[in-house]
Amino acid sequence: MNPEAQKIYEEMKEKLGKIVPDVELALKAEIAVEINQLKQERNAVIMGHNYMEPVLFNTIPDYKGDSLDLSRKAATTDKELIVFCGVRFMAETAKILNPSKTVLLPAEKAGCSLAESITAEDVRALKKKYPGIPVVTYVNTYADVKAESDICCTSSNAAAVVDSLNSDTVIFLPDQYLASNVANETGKHIIFPSLNPVEDQNLLDVQLIGWHGRCEVHEKFTVEDIRSVREQFPDVLVLTHPECSPEVVQASDFSGSTNAMIKHVQESSAPKYLVLTECAMGDNIAAANPHKEMLRLCMVRCPHMNMITMEDTRDALRYNRYVIEVPEEIRLKAFQAVDRMIKIG
Ligand code: 13P
Ligand code: SF4
Repeated sequence: MNPEAQKIYEEMKEKLGKIVPDVELALKAEIAVEINQLKQERNAVIMGHNYMEPVLFNTIPDYKGDSLDLSRKAATTDKELIVFCGVRFMAETAKILNPSKTVLLPAEKAGCSLAESITAEDVRALKKKYPGIPVVTYVNTYADVKAESDICCTSSNAAAVVDSLNSDTVIFLPDQYLASNVANETGKHIIFPSLNPVEDQNLLDVQLIGWHGRCEVHEKFTVEDIRSVREQFPDVLVLTHPECSPEVVQASDFSGSTNAMIKHVQESSAPKYLVLTECAMGDNIAAANPHKEMLRLCMVRCPHMNMITMEDTRDALRYNRYVIEVPEEIRLKAFQAVDRMIKIG
């Protein structure tokens, strides 16, 4: 092993030695060296979402964080190339905010069930049906859907964005569960016309109008999972992402964005934690908090986030793939919605 790979290997061994076997650490240290060289040659910055697997997460990203964090970093980087270790909607958001840069997504098909759940045509139809009502769109959507929206939000600022509109009624798309959790948090009455057209008759006491999109990962966690883990480990602290159902969120001890959950574990003194979200993040929290015990519920994984590997990230830099393009007319409109959100914080 060359000295640079040896150094990376030793750093990883210290952080991840209890989670990842040596054989993988050694192999990935060599790839990390190649990535670091290519990164310099190509004047690139690497963004790593909190869901990246532990070795990738702890070696190559220049910035790590949740969707909002990484959008902010993408907006201000002066590097020529942004390599996004996350999913397509995140890479697209980087392109929307910083169009003069080349943005690469290492796995072409890394999508998101929420982003797939709604089209720009769906949003236009809703706006026609409910004229004059502002549209808030979760960042887990594609650029053409963002372009039809007044403002975007992430899981860390959804309630603040809704409140910022000072509107009696708001259309909130496309995550059924995030919308329901925001409704609970802000005390608003929500309806889902796409699920229940009958309820759609009277808008008088309705404050949120939702859609039927769901995260294919978070929708699978159940109250029964939490009950069963608590029975076995009575001192466990349960954390959920707000893409989980309202029942699951209510049965947990804390709910927040990926960054908020990481911070909550760091600042809590409980001996054991169960984080109901993409499993790799549990590994990353375990690595950063060696004296806290992380319980695992890894039967549900995000197939999209899991497509991003060190090998594909190296090849993205080597072969300049997969380049994210957003038509300028759509980008300009989507920019307004994302930029308004970033200004709120
Ligand atoms: P965060 O914005 O909390 O990082 O979440 C993104 C995501 O895709 C959650 O499934
Ligand atoms: Fe999309 Fe869910 Fe995967 Fe997040 S975890 S990227 S919301 S499918």
